[in-house]
Parts: sequence; structure tokens; C-alpha cells
Amino acid sequence: MASNTLFLLPGDGIGTEIMAEVEKLIAHLNGSGATDFAYDKGLVGGCAYDAHGVAISEEDMGKALAADAVIFGAVGGPKWDDVPYDVRPEAGLLRLRKDLGLFANLRPAICYSALADASSLKKELVEGLDILIVRELTGGVYFGEPKEITDLGNGQKRAVDTQVYESYEIDRIARVAFDLAMTRGKKVHSADKKNVMKSGVLWDEVVKQAGRDYPEIDLHHILADNAAMQLVRNPKQFDVMVTDNLFGDILSDAAAMLTGSLGMLPSASLGAPDPATGKRKALYEPVHGSAPDIAGQGIANPIAMFASFAMALRYSFGMVDLAGKLETAISDVLEDGLRTGDIMQTGCRKVTTSEMGDAIIAKLG
Ligand code: IPM
Ligand code: MG
Repeated sequence: MASNTLFLLPGDGIGTEIMAEVEKLIAHLNGSGATDFAYDKGLVGGCAYDAHGVAISEEDMGKALAADAVIFGAVGGPKWDDVPYDVRPEAGLLRLRKDLGLFANLRPAICYSALADASSLKKELVEGLDILIVRELTGGVYFGEPKEITDLGNGQKRAVDTQVYESYEIDRIARVAFDLAMTRGKKVHSADKKNVMKSGVLWDEVVKQAGRDYPEIDLHHILADNAAMQLVRNPKQFDVMVTDNLFGDILSDAAAMLTGSLGMLPSASLGAPDPATGKRKALYEPVHGSAPDIAGQGIANPIAMFASFAMALRYSFGMVDLAGKLETAISDVLEDGLRTGDIMQTGCRKVTTSEMGDAIIAKLG
């Protein structure tokens, strides 16, 4: 029996195309003896809705809960714009995050040197950029109750979302950020809106309290709006940024674009360590979406998906060297001048999704 199990959820749009490359990668790694992965595949998002009328079936939820790691593609597309809110494609992803308890979302924004010119910021601002956004993923306004639209009966409606955090939720995400910062630049910026939000006041209080256990960490408070501005003004001032679910959603998109392409960036979503085994539930996904505009053409960029797989090797399976090898293979292929359409530059060779996947796999030897 294989020792490590993966559950692949390609999802919609380009999700299926980039996941096909992951399957080639797994076959290569297993074939070379480097890994012993067994995997199953399921449906999530619009395709699950088409098949089962829900964004993820109970059977697939069970498989996701049982696997050592979930590898996720992307969900959504205009085809499902009008499906009921509770079963919209994104609901599948949100349910996975919630039911697997994946409270810690790691979103690195790394600028590959071959792509520094592709950033919308000046090359000197982004060259060598290496930021890690640590986003709280199972709380805040995404899940807070009440969450509803009420008809006031006078021709008006009232919509409520609830931003709510308890101390333990803030404490555990702060500690993830501090632990990771200890392995990097030892600097953490905690972003909130404590100038207008009570949840921000508590956020800051709990982060500072947890920070006392990490005397080596250089901890800074930053208002979330200022964080957005500083990210595009001088991004290299940041090492690790920890923030709530909604601010993390927004700030990580901004950070991602600094690096030249959303198609490049991976993410890991981790749960708490199991008290008995020490293992964390985990889901790995590219930061980009399902890109319906280019779906089905075989031209999507598989790099963020591969980089997400590298994060799985590192965080779920302790295969740190193999993760590094895969990341080096990605940057080598970029240095060789291979580009998918989204990152195409003059003088480079434009390749398809599958050619890019093959080239990266070939570098692994
Ligand atoms: C993300 C996405 C999701 C989010 C959507 C698809 C629900 O934007 O992972 O950043 O808002 O969290
Ligand atoms: Mg987002």
C-alpha cells in the first residue's frame, strides 16, 4: 500500500488542464522512486454542481478528509453565474476550508528573476522579492453569522455580514506567522483596521500578546489600507504579513501581481496538527482562478499549480529537498526562456500548458 495519499480536485476551467500536468508529475516522481503517492480524483465547483447539484458531494468531502493532502485546481465560471448562492462553485472551496479546519493560508509572493520585467512595478522594486502572506482562512466575515439579506417591506432591503474573531483564532494564526518568520527574515507585519473595527482591536491585542513568546521577531502593526499602499510603494520592506480572512484575500492578490503574474503563485492551507499524529490536514491550490476566458485551449500556465505541489511536498510530506528541486526546475525553465502566453516576453519561446509541464518535469531528471 502506498504510504502517502493525495486527493485531486481539478475543479473547473483551466483547473482540469493544470491538474493533468500534476498527474504527469506524480507519475514521474513515483516512476523514479522519489515518491510513493496514491491518488484519487473528485469533483468540486461548477462540475460538481452539474453532476450532483452541490458544489462538492458528501462522498468527495469524505475523501478530502481522509487524504494526507488535497491538491485543488480552481472553481467557477460564467456558466454557473446564476446557480443558487449556497451551491455556487466557491461554496465547495469554502466548505473544504471550513470542514478540514484549514485556518492557516500561506501565500508566498516570490519574484522569479527571469520575470522581474513582467511586473507592473519597476524592476528594482520587485527583483528578489520574497514576501509570505499568512491569511486567516476559517473565520472573519467569510463565515460570521448573521449573514443575510432581509426584506424590510418598504421597498428596501438590509444586508448583513458579520466580522467576528475569537482570541484563540487570532492567537493560532499569529503563531503560525511567527514560526514561519523564524525560518526567514524574522520580521512580521500584522495588518488590521483597529482604527475602525473592534475585531481589529482584539486582533492587535492578541497578536502582540502572542509575540511576547517570540522575542527575536521584529513585530510591526500596520493598518490594512496602509499595507495595500506600502505593498505597491516598497514591497521589499515586508517579510511575513499576517492578517484576517478578508484583508488577506485582498492583500494577497495585490502581492501576487507584484511578481508579474497571478499564474505563478502557489498557496497552502493548513489545519492544526493532529494531537496524536502531529499531521495537519492540508489543501494546496494556485492563487489564480479558473480563467474561463482561456479554458480548453491548452495554453494555461501550470507553474502556480506545480509550485503548490512543491508546497505539498514540503509541508505535508517533509520532502524538503524534492520541493526545492521542483522549485529550481521551475526557475530553470523560466531562465531557459520558456513562457506560457500570460508571461510571454519578447525573445522568449511561447509554449503550451503541456509543453511547460514536460519541460519542468524533464529538469527533474
Ligand atoms: C481566494 C479566492 C476565494 C476567496 C474565492 C474563490 C471564494 O478569492 O482563494 O483568494 O475569496 O477566498
Ligand atoms: Mg482571492
